[in-house]
Amino acid sequence: MSTADHSAEEPDFRFVVPRKGKHRPKSRGKLKTSFNCPQDHTIDRVDVCHNTVTQQLKIAESELLQSAFFAECCENICPHLADVRQIICLGLGNFSECSIARYQLAFIRCLRDKANLSARGQFYDPVFSRSEVEILRTLAETVLEENVEGKYGAECKTLFYLPHCPKQIVNNVLWKNWQPAHLTNVILLCNSFGTITNNHPRRLLENSAGYILRAAGAFREVPLRNNFRFADIFNDTSLHYLPSSEKLEESAWEHTEEPSYDAEDLELITRQLVESLVLL
Ligand SMILES: C[S@@+](CC[C@H](N)C(=O)[O-])C[C@H]1O[C@@H](n2cnc3c(N)ncnc32)[C@H](O)[C@@H]1O
Repeated sequence: MSTADHSAEEPDFRFVVPRKGKHRPKSRGKLKTSFNCPQDHTIDRVDVCHNTVTQQLKIAESELLQSAFFAECCENICPHLADVRQIICLGLGNFSECSIARYQLAFIRCLRDKANLSARGQFYDPVFSRSEVEILRTLAETVLEENVEGKYGAECKTLFYLPHCPKQIVNNVLWKNWQPAHLTNVILLCNSFGTITNNHPRRLLENSAGYILRAAGAFREVPLRNNFRFADIFNDTSLHYLPSSEKLEESAWEHTEEPSYDAEDLELITRQLVESLVLL
């Protein structure tokens, strides 16, 4: 454990599984995230002070900018970001409460500046509170409203920033772009493919992360050296990209079925679940 704030790692929400018969909740309606009920002021769990969060974010950015960790990241990563036109960030978590998520947000904003990228960040996490959505918008970032479970097509060079995101989201990004014209547009900053493939039996990965398994053999991986002050923010994180010189075999483009995951293995929050997400 680092000294970073872990108290908010388990967001204070619960899923309501629709029940039949008399136990069904009466009029709790379909509320339930900041996205489908933006005017409902009761859904914010804490009265988040925008200024405080913004200040904390600035402090995190300044600390990163002065760190040897960030300097080394830029040296290793920026050369691969030259043509990036779009930045999509998923699974950040509750950055107003959790310093891990806040440093991760600071990181992508600083990296964008250092790499001279003009793209705004496009952020989505189903657990974002209304305040967090507002803060991101005030910071001139874009907040996506729909849960597409990571299935975004990369029409242009796109940096997908998925810090400690469920691997099924990474798998879905890869599936959506598994075609010659798109796959080289996908740059993933996420948990190491090497660690995923080394730490899970192949048989299990074929079901839950088949496209990561396939990508691991072709993508280049640039690990971030985890020497930041807090050890659990950027650990096990790598940049992954498919060099344009890498020509995959014709057979690599076959068998591109949409992934489906067993309910008991689900790591991501599905589109359907968002409908019944209740913030306490
Ligand atoms: C393990 S947490 C990581 C949080 C934070 N980035 C960290 O490193 O502590 C995984 C995050 O993925 C988010 N997530 C789950 N399903 C998602 C979806 N369909 N789209 C975007 N984010 C999702 C969760 O809400 C959660 O914030």
